[in-house]
Order: sequence, then structure tokens, then C-alpha cells
Amino acid sequence: MDRRIVILGFMGCGKTTVAKELAYKIDAEFIDLDSFVTEHERRSPAEIIQADGETAFRQIESAALNQVLTRSDARVIALGGGTWTVPANRTMIALHDCITVWLDAPFDLCWERINGSGDSVRPLAPDLETARNRYETRRADYNLAESHIRINDRDSYQSIADEIRNLCSAS
Ligand code: S3P
Repeated sequence: MDRRIVILGFMGCGKTTVAKELAYKIDAEFIDLDSFVTEHERRSPAEIIQADGETAFRQIESAALNQVLTRSDARVIALGGGTWTVPANRTMIALHDCITVWLDAPFDLCWERINGSGDSVRPLAPDLETARNRYETRRADYNLAESHIRINDRDSYQSIADEIRNLCSAS
């Protein structure tokens, strides 16, 4: 399993938790892109979006993705919810021959988690209607991922990580 694994999906689908567990299971290094941005910018994605707007954040996020792909040894990468929706980011990921895995969680599950984490953490999902519209609009992009894992609220993050491991060892 030499190819890097990139985990993507909507806010609250469990990208970070699942990617961390997967990295543990395959004994690989893991990077969470949101945390990488926070470390390098000394501000979280939410703080950047709130202060400078989404466009400014996307530029920072793309530069961070480029750094992660070119300079780090991480074999498992969790994207932010919007990273994959930027075509240039998808091209970058394809050029690095990563396996891309969409964690397709139902909206209600994502919303429950978004809501539970406090409003300021997700400025792009400030209310249910905005979040749902964004969720629906993004599905076509997420669907471009190489692999698609359907998740429901009974799946544990361990079992999802196992599923990804099995899927990736076959590719
Ligand atoms: C975003 C999702 C966030 C973070 C930023 C923008 C998005 O990451 O990158 O607030 O556009 O969906 P999570 O998906 O980890 O919440």
C-alpha cells in the first residue's frame, strides 16, 4: 500500500477521527490539513474565514495542501470539508497519485456533530439551511473521489477505518 490515502467529505463526517485511526492501524504518519493550517498560520481555518473571508482561506489551504503533498511523509491525510471542492486541489492530489476516499455520511449525522461543536468552529455552516445547501451542492464534487464509503450512525470509526484499510490494500 504505497499510495497515500486522502480522506475527504463534508464537515462532521468524521474525516479526522477516521484518518487518525486508519494511520494507527497501518502504522503510518497522519496529517490533518486543518491542524496543519492552524499550526502554520497560528489561526484556525474558522478564524481565518471569519477575519479574512473564504477566498483568502482557500488560498492558504491550497498552499498548505501543496506543502503537505510535496514535503511531508504522511501516508494518511485528512482534508478540510471544502478542500476537495477546489479543482486545483483535486489536480494536485491526482498528480501525487493519492487514493481518495469520500466518507459519505448522512446530512443529519454531520449536522448533529457540527451543531454539537459550537457555531464558531464552522463559519461555513452557520445554520441548518445553509449547511444542508452546501452539503447537497458539494456531493457532485465528493463523488469524484476514487472510493466512496457510505456511513451511518451505527458505524464505529474503527470499523470505517478497517473498511478503508481493506479497500486500499486491494488497490
Ligand atoms: C470547511 C471545513 C472545515 C475547515 C473550514 C472550511 C469547509 O473543516 O476546513 O472551516 O469548507 O467545509 P472540517 O471539514 O474538518 O470541519
